[in-house]
Amino acid sequence: MNLPYAEPYKIKMVEQIYNSTREQREKWIKDAHYNLFNLRSSQVFVDLLTDSGTGAMSDKQWAEMMLGDESYAGASSYYKMKDAIKNIFGFDYFLPTHQGRAAENVLFSTIVKAGDIVPGNSHFDTTKGHIEFRNATAVDCTIDEAFDTTIDHPFKGNLDLNKLEHVLSTNPKENIPFIIVTITCNSSGGQPVSIANMKAVKEMALTYGIPVFYDSARFAENAYFIKLREKGYENYTIKEIVREMYRYADGMTMSSKKDAIVNMGGFIGMRSEELFRKASVYNIMFEGFITYGGMSGRDMNALAQGLNEATEFEYLESRVGQVEYLGKKCMEYGIPIQFPIGGHAVFVDAKKMLPRLPKEEFAAQTLAVELYLEGGVRGVEIGAVLADRDPKTRENRYPALELLRLAIPRRTYTNNHMEYVAASLKNVAERCDNIKRGLKIVYEAPIMRHFTVEFEKL
Ligand code: F0G
Repeated sequence: MNLPYAEPYKIKMVEQIYNSTREQREKWIKDAHYNLFNLRSSQVFVDLLTDSGTGAMSDKQWAEMMLGDESYAGASSYYKMKDAIKNIFGFDYFLPTHQGRAAENVLFSTIVKAGDIVPGNSHFDTTKGHIEFRNATAVDCTIDEAFDTTIDHPFKGNLDLNKLEHVLSTNPKENIPFIIVTITCNSSGGQPVSIANMKAVKEMALTYGIPVFYDSARFAENAYFIKLREKGYENYTIKEIVREMYRYADGMTMSSKKDAIVNMGGFIGMRSEELFRKASVYNIMFEGFITYGGMSGRDMNALAQGLNEATEFEYLESRVGQVEYLGKKCMEYGIPIQFPIGGHAVFVDAKKMLPRLPKEEFAAQTLAVELYLEGGVRGVEIGAVLADRDPKTRENRYPALELLRLAIPRRTYTNNHMEYVAASLKNVAERCDNIKRGLKIVYEAPIMRHFTVEFEKL
């Protein structure tokens, strides 16, 4: 018999979590205005809101915390992080930032202006927010297959080269500061981009003279999928695949809270010294001096160690394997999910679960609330609430997919928790016919409403 994978670690410290009754949850979610971001973590049993900053650091990372150099300028921790970035991605220049959106803020302040167009594959909401905040436009060039959850495609994060070429050829070069490739593509379901696609995007970008940046939050999971699915890379190590991926990028923004397995941190990696110098001005203004940029020395140390751990095959096999474990359980129970299963999360197709709910009643958010009521499990809506309003017309945007994302923190929960989550979903699925009405927005912020929106039950 083939031996299954097993976690390449054992547990040295645990944190108690508490379950609650349905009556308690009914009250708490009402008090939270049916927005799961408003719940206290103590009101949640299994927290799958996000895999961002919620992972468990290793003993080696904690040891690195003790070695942190807190000097304002030129700390050894800065150089540890610099070496890790050079070794793993090949970039000579980098700026630390306090998290991913801060990296976007600094980079986009440097190169995005009003009227610009930024093509990419289903931009993440903070990325799109930072583009639109500057009165520029994010154009989604993801392949169509990504928007049908039932189609089996190994690289649903890929950019459609025809869509991209259309954007590049119909807009002046001065208005396209860069192309952004999100790896893995969070908004389309944690789906990977192939090296062939990265290469083709870079070739096209070169002919138009436009730089390519990777939004790299889950770059290691992307590399893992390449090893498993893309011909020619079976025998590469994950670190070799990552180096190959970044040959086709001019720079990167990173939320280190994901694939660097730290609780806080980010950075911008760059090839160009000129860009580094320009961006340094904004980094100093928004984040901090260029050798710490919003991060403590100890955090930079843990980040450098985390980058190394996250690019080991055994770690990724158990990490992505656990997500797959939950996904397969859901499929076994007949729950419609985005297929293939993503790298960091299982995405439940809410339109298929609640087909009769009109789009104005937010099926995925309704499902998120129902799952919380059922088992104290917290997921997050990736649908019309997140898609926000069109900045010009102020009309609601209804994306092709209404998804409930169950994001799995790294090295945090066991497969028993996954069993629990799948069973809770199954119970919700069994009473879906009785869920006849959804939610109505009663408060929303002018931009990025997702986090603070308030609802009323219809
Ligand atoms: N890019 C991607 C693809 C992301 O998923 C995120 C964050 C960011 C950028 C921004 O990074 O949070 O460090 O400022 N995603 C989290 C999530 C919030 O839950 O998916 P950040």
